[in-house]
Amino acid sequence: MPIRINTNDYCAFTADHRKFASLLRGAGDILRLLALIENLPENLAMSTPQRVEHQLTDKGHVPVYTTAVVEQPWDSYTASDHAVWRTLFRRQRELLVGRACQEFLDSQDAMGMGEDAIPKFADLNRQLQARTGWTLIGVQGLLPELDFFEHLANRRFPVTWWIRKPEQLDYLSEPDLFHDLFGHVPLLMNPVFADYMQAYGLGGVKAHGIGADALAQLTRLYWYTVEFGLIDTPDGLRIYGSGIVSSKGESLHCLESDAPNRIGFDLHRIMRTRYRIDTFQKTYFVIDSFEQLIKATEPDFRPYYQQLAEQTSFPAGEVQSDDRVFHRGSGDGWLLDGDV
Ligand code: PHE
Ligand code: FE
Repeated sequence: MPIRINTNDYCAFTADHRKFASLLRGAGDILRLLALIENLPENLAMSTPQRVEHQLTDKGHVPVYTTAVVEQPWDSYTASDHAVWRTLFRRQRELLVGRACQEFLDSQDAMGMGEDAIPKFADLNRQLQARTGWTLIGVQGLLPELDFFEHLANRRFPVTWWIRKPEQLDYLSEPDLFHDLFGHVPLLMNPVFADYMQAYGLGGVKAHGIGADALAQLTRLYWYTVEFGLIDTPDGLRIYGSGIVSSKGESLHCLESDAPNRIGFDLHRIMRTRYRIDTFQKTYFVIDSFEQLIKATEPDFRPYYQQLAEQTSFPAGEVQSDDRVFHRGSGDGWLLDGDV
């Protein structure tokens, strides 16, 4: 497989890969360069972008995991791709004023993420690197957990390069460019949230080494904060979770519907709570601040995992007696099973 090396300063690579760039620009000791390439982690070798989606197998649609890092094939986006971005961007921005937290909206503006066209990762990286040292890297689809954690631990955020089709505006079953870029990337401009994401990656590498249960408990934390988190502000509850801000239906549901519970953030409670992957959440957890997230997740989780191993999990929609309840859900329209 040919390895392409990007010598652009704003390429998807940082740190180690800068070594490459300077090597290439310099006299070019080809032997040393080859030695470096040999040592490149497999998932950091650039490949040709493919659109890797769920494929139909005898078990139904299953995700295909791909570890390659790709250069964003920006010139290959069609007018229809850009139109999908524009439509979704406009629709969500309109909806999110007064619903998303101000940090999210301001960060989006500050990094120059606009509706005109699908942003270039290289342009966003210039802002991100200056502000918090994060780098976006292009990927083809879902990553295996450990690869994902290792990217986060190194302040690299993997972004799916392809965008959904016009007939998938409201729902698709896996992350695409709109979810990853519009949903996840803006808050990486926030220094506290940026640190939380890196800490999560380090915690993920650790949990991965401990075992499947630890990993499942940590994943619940990601789900109920990074993907579906709400934050309490002087103006009321606001959204910061990426899974919400990239969805029209859930942006309305999480704040305005009577059905779901809205409960104060509690780390242990969250790590015991199952969740939904196929419907709106039955419960949203509300943080007071991003500092609260950092503080609560600072301690070593090993003893937590040990303790959790002896405790049963909570159904997604169940309110516990010691919950700090912002809103007790009516449970309207809930499916009885299907928590994961
Ligand atoms: N402090 C956690 C641990 O020791 C790591 C972590 C940080 C987990 C942030 C989640 C979020 O495992
Ligand atoms: Fe996501």
